[in-house]
Amino acid sequence: MSKRKGIILAGGTGSRLSPITLGVSKQLLPVYDKPMIYYPLSTLMLAGITEILIITNKKDKPNFERLLKDGQQIGINIKYAIQDKPEGIPQAFTIGESFIDDSPVTLILGDNLFHGQDLISKLQKCNSLNIGANLFAYPVRDPENYGVAEFNNKGKLINIIEKPKNPKTQYAITGIYFYDNSVIERTKMLKKSVRGEYEITDLNLSYLKDNKLNVELMGRGMAWLDTGNFESLHEASGYIRTLEHRQGLKVGCPEEIAWRMGWIDNKQLSSLAITTSKSGYGEYLINLISKTKAQTQ
Ligand code: DAU
Repeated sequence: MSKRKGIILAGGTGSRLSPITLGVSKQLLPVYDKPMIYYPLSTLMLAGITEILIITNKKDKPNFERLLKDGQQIGINIKYAIQDKPEGIPQAFTIGESFIDDSPVTLILGDNLFHGQDLISKLQKCNSLNIGANLFAYPVRDPENYGVAEFNNKGKLINIIEKPKNPKTQYAITGIYFYDNSVIERTKMLKKSVRGEYEITDLNLSYLKDNKLNVELMGRGMAWLDTGNFESLHEASGYIRTLEHRQGLKVGCPEEIAWRMGWIDNKQLSSLAITTSKSGYGEYLINLISKTKAQTQ
């Protein structure tokens, strides 16, 4: 079985954040001290995924490439592809078909931010499951804005409804999806919904119909943050700032993850630190090396 690949979907129009997004892609906006895309990128890296495709709009692609290059500087491999029109999340699998090849694949939405104690073990467990689809459900105050999971009285998933007017549970399906390789063929069978898009929920229901869908609950100890409007973007920045100030540790720092995973060495981390030395970000990277040395002496 080939190694799992990762896709970050970072297209769309960002219209709910207009005029901020008139000049810049939503997924490049800051969430406190980093561009938004650093967070989903970090999540894939924490799952152990090193082959990543970033799908963007045509006009924004050069900006993502300038930011993340080919990924070699952080010990991974990044490729880029264009989504001409935002016609639905599952398009990631037809656009990414040759990149995915015969591998299982994980899709993460470029505006989804996950954080929490159990995150790494949950991600790595899903990474090792190569059959069917594995999703996460998370309790939210406003489930009507998401795909909502419904369970029977034994706790088994029986349905997912996209943006229901009267949600039967609080559990939203989050924007990280672990699939086997049949996702490409399943995507090709999808029909557009009444709103004119291919729906990720229809794709997930095709796995449910075949009894190949597993949904795991994320508890209140985890954070799954939205960055879709002015309020939630500001709140996400505040959340990251509070954590980072308290702990002196960064959330969603791809350079640090690459170094801790052993994908880059001290020398490579130091040279990355030079490019960000004036903002304090580079200083943080340098301190990682000196603190580890001090602790092992
Ligand atoms: O965030 C999780 C939710 O994401 C799920 O619970 C829903 O089932 C799923 O449909 C989706 O709902 P959203 O309303 O958040 O989807 P939205 O259309 O806003 O797209 C999410 C992100 O994906 C957004 O940043 C833009 C990007 N996108 C979206 C579409 C439809 C693309 O890059 N291309 C697209 O064609």
